[in-house]
Amino acid sequence: MCGIIGYTGHRQASPILVDALSDLEYRGYDSAGISVFQDDHTHQTYRTAGKVETLKSTLNGHLNGNSGIAHTRWATHGDPSIENAHPHTDEVGSLSVVHNGIVENHLDLRHELINKGHKFTSNTDTETIPHLIEDFINNGDSFENSVLKAAPMIKGANSVVLMNNDHPDTIIAFKKGYAGGLIVGIGVKEVFIASDLSAITPHCNKVVHLDDSEIAIIKPDHVIFKNLENVVINKTINTVSSNPFASAKGKYRHFMLKEIHEQPESIISSLRGRISFEDHSIRLKDLTLPDKKIEKIEKIFLTGMGTSMHAAMLGRLWFEKLAGIPAEWDNSSEFRYRDPIISEKTLFISISQSGETADTLAAMQLMKESTIDQITLCNHPNAQSSRLANDTLQIRAGLEIGVAASKTFTCSLVTLYLLAIHIGIVRGHIDQNTIPDLINELAKLPELMGSLLKSKTIYEELAEKYHNNPDFLFLGRGLNFPIALEGALKLKEISYLHAEGYPAGEMKHGPISLIDNQMPIVTIIPQDSTYNKMLNNLSEAQARGGVIIAIASESDNSIKNSADHVIKIPDCSELLSPLLTIIPLQLLSYYIAVRRGCDVDQPRNLAKSVTVE
Ligand code: G6P
Repeated sequence: MCGIIGYTGHRQASPILVDALSDLEYRGYDSAGISVFQDDHTHQTYRTAGKVETLKSTLNGHLNGNSGIAHTRWATHGDPSIENAHPHTDEVGSLSVVHNGIVENHLDLRHELINKGHKFTSNTDTETIPHLIEDFINNGDSFENSVLKAAPMIKGANSVVLMNNDHPDTIIAFKKGYAGGLIVGIGVKEVFIASDLSAITPHCNKVVHLDDSEIAIIKPDHVIFKNLENVVINKTINTVSSNPFASAKGKYRHFMLKEIHEQPESIISSLRGRISFEDHSIRLKDLTLPDKKIEKIEKIFLTGMGTSMHAAMLGRLWFEKLAGIPAEWDNSSEFRYRDPIISEKTLFISISQSGETADTLAAMQLMKESTIDQITLCNHPNAQSSRLANDTLQIRAGLEIGVAASKTFTCSLVTLYLLAIHIGIVRGHIDQNTIPDLINELAKLPELMGSLLKSKTIYEELAEKYHNNPDFLFLGRGLNFPIALEGALKLKEISYLHAEGYPAGEMKHGPISLIDNQMPIVTIIPQDSTYNKMLNNLSEAQARGGVIIAIASESDNSIKNSADHVIKIPDCSELLSPLLTIIPLQLLSYYIAVRRGCDVDQPRNLAKSVTVE
């Protein structure tokens, strides 16, 4: 999660930008940079590796000017270094660009631009952006038109902020997909642009949130908002509280909705620095488990509670498929009282976003006594779980306030998936030729996830229709069986409706007797290897009068004939489909809970971290 801040106005830009960077540092911390523009049509850029403090001491009050942009980086493409730190510039050094996201097609763009004579000085995907825009400017397009022409060519979920020497008081920002927020803060003869509200609220309380495929042309005394088709749009100006907690919700009614929408960005954060798009490798730097030990693993055992247990269930399937290792999972509260047969060649993996769940800690403690290797996945540095495990992989979801887990689930999944690929590569189970595809599929995920967050109409309609139906059934097979359980858990947790998740094949063995026209059956049926079996189960449920809500693939044209309601997910690799199918289920639960008037962020009887047995 990179941090972005920009300012144009009547004050000195540099102190405002540097102060904001310190606030944003929690988002990323491997390097930082700043560009400040002067009226004489030049700009000065300073970039440093390491903390914002290093940048501050390098600047030492050197920058004068009333407009500028700045960035804290957390590396995706290219190591943390001065060359790879943002802002990046073009061939003649006229543009300055900061960016959050992944330019999926950066290798193709780089190749084309190099053929046209552009020279690159970094390994970042970001650097393609100024060179691409420069190309249009060189061909006679205006600054703004060049950005509008370049934006559609940049594939993936990306938030970009840039300036140009020829327009020293103008900042242009555009957003594609959901790689991270961009918020415009409107003051008196000064305007701010930032990735976080907290960087703006010390200065002004009138803000506008940029949405997907929108651009803002920012000058000190006015801002024009357009869509990427160059049509001017009217945006709502919101007044935000200076209370950091109240303002933290941003434009969302509940933290849970905000956190559901943050998932494309938070999974980028989980991936950052861990996959290399240049040589298609996985680099889990926080994993100390040596390859020699990985080669000898005979079994993987996964555990967790609640949502984290569902992540463990999915982890089992990925470890079997990608690493070729027998894998098992159990609920931590059951595991701790079993007499598990665990050999010393077992790898024990626990998942706990809080790192404080009593049962998970007890299961870990039990395994600590047997001295087997333990890896824990956690969202909090220095949690208790980290003290019990040999290795901690931070899932990097950022703060999750809603009690019902959303982004911590998908970040746990992405981290488990990376670990499974890593172990699969070390053990030679994964064919080297397939690794680029595995990595490229991951790079596409943020954009695909973001496409599922664009509309709420279907969920509001379903909530209106079914919010009083007392029982729901969720069905899935294979990789989507844990998602059926997680969907049912979300609905139970926040709407207080009864919901059961079942493997679809089990439906005939009992739950089918419950089905009548009062029971919505949420069927997760992407076009994967279980599709035909799922279709049979769906028909059986429909024949008993059940109301079918199908979560189906975009390309499935016939599903509408078999379901009462269809929610489409983009086509994607089978292994990663759970990261998409979960999003409609989170949204469905959310809108049903809202329609029922429930306290979504703090559901009755639940706690974010259950520290007692
Ligand atoms: C509680 C929360 C759930 C969470 C579970 C495990 O029950 O309400 O949302 O999934 O604990 O929490 P952990 O912190 O271990 O992931």
